[in-house]
Amino acid sequence: MWSSSLAILASVLLSSFTAAAYTAIPSDILSELTPRLSPTAKILLPSSSLWPSASKRWNELSRPSYSAIIQVAEERDIAESVKYANQHQIPFFAFSQTHGSDYGLGRFHGIGISLSSLNRKIDLDKSGKWATIGGGMKSKDVLDYLWKRGKQTGTGGCGCVGAVSPALGGGHNWFQGQYGLMADQVLELRVVLADGEVVVVNDKKHKELFWGMRGAGHNFGIVSEMKYRVYDVKEPKWSIETFTFKSERLEEVYKYANKKLDGKGDPRLLMWGTWFLNPAVDAEKPIVQFQWIYNGPFSELKKLSKDTHDLKPDAYSSAEVDYPELSPSLGYAADQYACQTDGQGNRMLRGIDVDQYDVKSLRKWYDAFAATLMTEPAFQTSFCILEGYSTQAVQAVPDKSTAFALRGERLLFAPAIFWQKGNATLDEKAKKWSREMYLAASGSSKKKTYVNYAHGDEPVQALYGYEPWRLKKLKQLKKKYDPLGHFAFFNPVNPIGKRHGDI
Ligand SMILES: Cc1cc2nc3c(=O)[nH]c(=O)nc-3n(C[C@H](O)[C@H](O)[C@H](O)COP(=O)(O)OP(=O)(O)OC[C@H]3O[C@@H](n4cnc5c(N)ncnc54)[C@H](O)[C@@H]3O)c2cc1C
Ligand SMILES: *[C@@H]1O[C@H](CO)[C@@H](O)[C@H](O)[C@H]1NC(C)=O
Repeated sequence: MWSSSLAILASVLLSSFTAAAYTAIPSDILSELTPRLSPTAKILLPSSSLWPSASKRWNELSRPSYSAIIQVAEERDIAESVKYANQHQIPFFAFSQTHGSDYGLGRFHGIGISLSSLNRKIDLDKSGKWATIGGGMKSKDVLDYLWKRGKQTGTGGCGCVGAVSPALGGGHNWFQGQYGLMADQVLELRVVLADGEVVVVNDKKHKELFWGMRGAGHNFGIVSEMKYRVYDVKEPKWSIETFTFKSERLEEVYKYANKKLDGKGDPRLLMWGTWFLNPAVDAEKPIVQFQWIYNGPFSELKKLSKDTHDLKPDAYSSAEVDYPELSPSLGYAADQYACQTDGQGNRMLRGIDVDQYDVKSLRKWYDAFAATLMTEPAFQTSFCILEGYSTQAVQAVPDKSTAFALRGERLLFAPAIFWQKGNATLDEKAKKWSREMYLAASGSSKKKTYVNYAHGDEPVQALYGYEPWRLKKLKQLKKKYDPLGHFAFFNPVNPIGKRHGDI
């Protein structure tokens, strides 16, 4: 039963481990930690052939540096890894599907705890009302498992992201107008705390922590599994209408969109937007794409979108698919471009949460986007997303009942920059461009950013709320559950010094 960890151990010992570069970990980590882990857990060192795939990230520019990666197989492996790291005073850091891209991650040096191979994956409860989901699972795997059983629930719109980690920061999803945020589906969590103790967290046990885990969860512990609400599939069809405009129409399109954003609409109807290069429509500048995404048959959507056709788009298309095909048909499948973690690319994400479309800011943001896009071919696959998830069920949850602070914001803007890694000039250019777009898109209102889209230079209140009681409560929880500040690298409540003002 020990064969697989022994094989790894042997391969590591045989290859030349450059200890000098990684003095942070004891040289006897394998002999000391291996017996404390379950048989299928693996301890990887940088010399391992598995290292490149184990350590790659969506955003290679904000990468943590690991001296070892523990690929855990069971909850106790997480606890033992945490205890081991603490005994040796080495920082530790848990990750699952590696799409987190806060620049604070670059400050981490220590032991990585990879959750993506957690043995316990997913189990639908007999009641059919909830499922137990492993802490490292991928959104797409959860979707597929449930779909086969006639069930569905909120998971990441991009199938490649974790199922648990987005929920810890709120968790936007296609169903949020109907069921709420991903965090709103969480019934219970098993959490490995900073000292390695495992606790069950729900609305009775560690009640205050349960509040904090839903919106700021990555600050307080490592989730090994969660009990999560699921729903019967009553309407399997999703319909999409795509209206494409040349950018001269931007003001007109978003004035129209603002009128439709009255919150009284159908909770199954989402308003989506994307700006990107589409030379078939405009050879000069990125196009403005407006989409309706609707949980229902196309015939119903057509009735809702009559006046959008009156705008007379430059191009138009439509589709009707079953739910598992929704993300792929929007370009967000687990294996599509936006999702990839191939170790080759630099990718940079931003988030700007706003209540409505401010056409002046949009124009400024668009112009900043277009100017660099049109003059630097290396960035040509970059795009901007204007996410307009429906919010009825999100806003039905009392605002104070979770640590998620942005229930009032109906739109999430996301400039996403893509380019090849290995060119420092481009890296600098991307950072400047990203910030320029962030400042333009946030307009004059108080800056707010969905924590899971944060870049690292936003004020901490922008993520966790401007109401003083929110940060106060989060800091109290931090004192109680993570007094030494172990969870300090991914959008921490207590930033170390300035929040990455270097970017
Ligand atoms: C292409 C893409 C698509 C996205 N789509 C969506 C979307 O549809 N909806 C949405 O809400 N967000 C989305 N996001 C943002 C997403 O929520 C964050 O990037 C999230 O951190 C990704 O989780 P991960 O497991 O892939 O990343 P990781 O980098 O593995 O995790 C991010 C952080 O979460 C913490 N963490 C991870 N797992 C655990 C755990 N089990 N217990 C405790 N802490 C943990 C760690 O601090 C880690 O640094 C998207 C991001 C990208 C890049
Ligand atoms: C890096 O990118 C810049 C800008 O496109 C380019 O001018 C330069 O030649 C590139 N450098 C390398 C080494 O590829």
